Amino acid sequence: MSTTRFSPARRLRGTIVPPADKSISHRAALLGAMASEPVRIRNFLDAADTNSTLAAMRTLGAVVEVRPDELVLRGTGLREAALPPGPIDVGNAGTLMRLLPGWLAAQEGRAFTLDGDASIRGRPVDRVAEPLRLMGASIEASEDRYPPFTIRGGRLRAVRYELPVASAQVKSCVMLAALAADGATTVVEPEPSRDHTERMLVAAGVNLHRDGAQTTVLNTDELVLDEPIVVPGDLSSAAFAIAAGLIIPRSRLLIQGVNVNWTRTGFVRIAQRMGAIILGDLEADPRDRIDPLEPIGDLDVAAGPLVGTVVDADEVPLAIDELPLVALLGCFAEGQTEVRGAAELRLKESDRIAGIVDGLGNLGADIEATPDGFVVRGDGRGLRGGRIESRGDHRLAMVGAVAGMASREGVDVVGMDAAGVSYPRFTDDFAALV
Ligand code: S3P
Repeated sequence: MSTTRFSPARRLRGTIVPPADKSISHRAALLGAMASEPVRIRNFLDAADTNSTLAAMRTLGAVVEVRPDELVLRGTGLREAALPPGPIDVGNAGTLMRLLPGWLAAQEGRAFTLDGDASIRGRPVDRVAEPLRLMGASIEASEDRYPPFTIRGGRLRAVRYELPVASAQVKSCVMLAALAADGATTVVEPEPSRDHTERMLVAAGVNLHRDGAQTTVLNTDELVLDEPIVVPGDLSSAAFAIAAGLIIPRSRLLIQGVNVNWTRTGFVRIAQRMGAIILGDLEADPRDRIDPLEPIGDLDVAAGPLVGTVVDADEVPLAIDELPLVALLGCFAEGQTEVRGAAELRLKESDRIAGIVDGLGNLGADIEATPDGFVVRGDGRGLRGGRIESRGDHRLAMVGAVAGMASREGVDVVGMDAAGVSYPRFTDDFAALV
């Protein structure tokens, strides 16, 4: 495991082009494997997680051609996935583990086993097993809940499914299974979550409609994407630079080519409420309209004073992966910052409530865990510094790194290599801004 030291930075200046969006890259590769005609993907994320997805698509029969400026996937079609020689290894990729069963559920009479790393083996899959069983697939999991697990495909029924928790992964899994079901499937979400699957399916010619909290997907014989999928920069990766630019005094950063999809910019809105200066054209809530294209924009970030805020359950899904950074901003803000209704954080690549509370606490933060979030009290002095453990979690590693650059004494991040899951160039990108 690698330990990397992040020393206090006097200020950050420059332009950053964040890596390609991880969520969209996973979906693009999956759609490429499920489509009937070749699918071209530009700016596919080259990172551990999305490489797990490409490898999985190859074992399921897709041909992946790597061209200088794009990937071309030649898939097997909706119902013809090849039977791999052994278990499919999802690595650390929770999104792959939860979306892929939606496609596999439609492979009648064939069984597929999914497994992954130690972190994956602690992440629940019952949330996708439940709707897929209702639709007609059979699933056996360890302790009925964890990987490794086996899906046997079946003849699928259309259902109406109400998600118990807002989850784009579960919603997407049901929508992918719906493509091969026997009619119109409706998914109901308690709160809106990222909508990349909806946009991509509409682009692939699927009859899909949103009506408030409900999304209805009609079955289809095939997916065809005429235009290349262009993957924008990842807001969740850009969020580390945004946070750094806000809390390291005198910083000024331009973030280029990032996804400004309304369902991904919750963190920017929370930071702006805390007083952050972040300028740029964020997409407005499109309500029931589904634009097949992802909006791409630039953000201009300048350091300045912040004040505490409260983040409630309705905002959580739209900023879920950035909530550890809200804790970090809270350390530099005046007053109290509280996140509520975010128990889902305990089920991510690590228990992110425990990880961020212990991690920032060891660096001098006044932070406390609650069952479904945390409370941070800022005293205007920021963080002392010290040592933080990534717990094998890419986002905790990168929060530790930003904390180090913003701290008074610097931070050693134990397990910094975890960043390779979503942002392999992280350390080099930041070195260029110092
Ligand atoms: C993701 C959805 C979120 C998020 C994850 C990626 C996706 O998970 O935390 O990093 O690509 O759909 P949940 O759907 O479990 O909230």
